[in-house]
Amino acid sequence: MTQSHCLELKSSIASSSDPNEQTSDFLNDVLTGLSQPNKELHCKYFYDELGSQLFDQICELPEYYPTRTESSIMRADADAICQHIGEGAVLVEYGSGSSTKTRQLLDHLVDQQAYLPVDISDEHLLRTADQLRLDYPELKITPIVADFTVGFDIPAAYRDTPITVYFPGSTIGNLPPDAAVKLLTEIAKQCQLGGGLLIGFDLDKSPEKLIAAYDDSTGVTAKFNLNLLNRINRELDGNFDMENFSHVAIYNEEHTRIEIYIESCIEQTVAIGEIEIKFAEGERIFTEYSHKYSIDQFQAMAGRAGFAADAVWTDDNELFAVMHLSVK
Ligand code: AVJ
Repeated sequence: MTQSHCLELKSSIASSSDPNEQTSDFLNDVLTGLSQPNKELHCKYFYDELGSQLFDQICELPEYYPTRTESSIMRADADAICQHIGEGAVLVEYGSGSSTKTRQLLDHLVDQQAYLPVDISDEHLLRTADQLRLDYPELKITPIVADFTVGFDIPAAYRDTPITVYFPGSTIGNLPPDAAVKLLTEIAKQCQLGGGLLIGFDLDKSPEKLIAAYDDSTGVTAKFNLNLLNRINRELDGNFDMENFSHVAIYNEEHTRIEIYIESCIEQTVAIGEIEIKFAEGERIFTEYSHKYSIDQFQAMAGRAGFAADAVWTDDNELFAVMHLSVK
């Protein structure tokens, strides 16, 4: 396979767009997660309208290297990447957000058939799709509001076509390796034979650099994490007091992952509608993993899911990697 300074390697629209259904899923998940002995909230709930904006601010932080590094790889290697994807691509993007990095692909792909951005944040997705339609008037753009963690149908028109899934941003790092293999296996099925996967993942590095990226000096990441409690207040009639909770980011060396928590600063009881939730002083709600891999580790993991790596591109400092894989 190829590395940027280039290394050959060895070897149907989701029903969750109904707002009432979304609220009851959110309520159920929040109440279930906060009733566990080890409290947890799913990181997909970070991305309401405000959360998506805060995430865009994280991407601009000097300490948060992943987005900028991945963008620079996409810029530097767009031609080679698009050659690996091939002509006539149907591109499906998992967690498309503002589709910023995707523009490198849309600018360089030859005879691209369609672009199907998939995101859980409906307003953000539809606004982005409208903007892209202005900038790429020739391209067929079909946004899909869906939660890819639970699966979704590709529109009938593309069901028998080989698909290229674009899964940037190291979002795959949210999942522990076994769950990542499961999702990659689903992606391999969706791609079909002849299809492929272009995926961005974060490379393991010094704990200092990682912690700085997830606990930035201006507190934007803290705001992003705590927005989850604000969202519960807004949408589920909660009464979390932000003053009494703080953002915690640690690096787990054994599992080579960042772990993010919301910590209760005092002993307190919080209400969500009629339900009361008790917190001990120092008790944590787990909100997110961000796994870090070596290129070999990631390749092995994708291999378990039925993918063979064709090429990998990295930056000069080997902070981040973008890999192209084919369905075996
Ligand atoms: C969007 C999952 C890639 O893990 O780096 C950034 C989310 N959380 N800062 C990451 C995130 C805190 C981000 N991903």
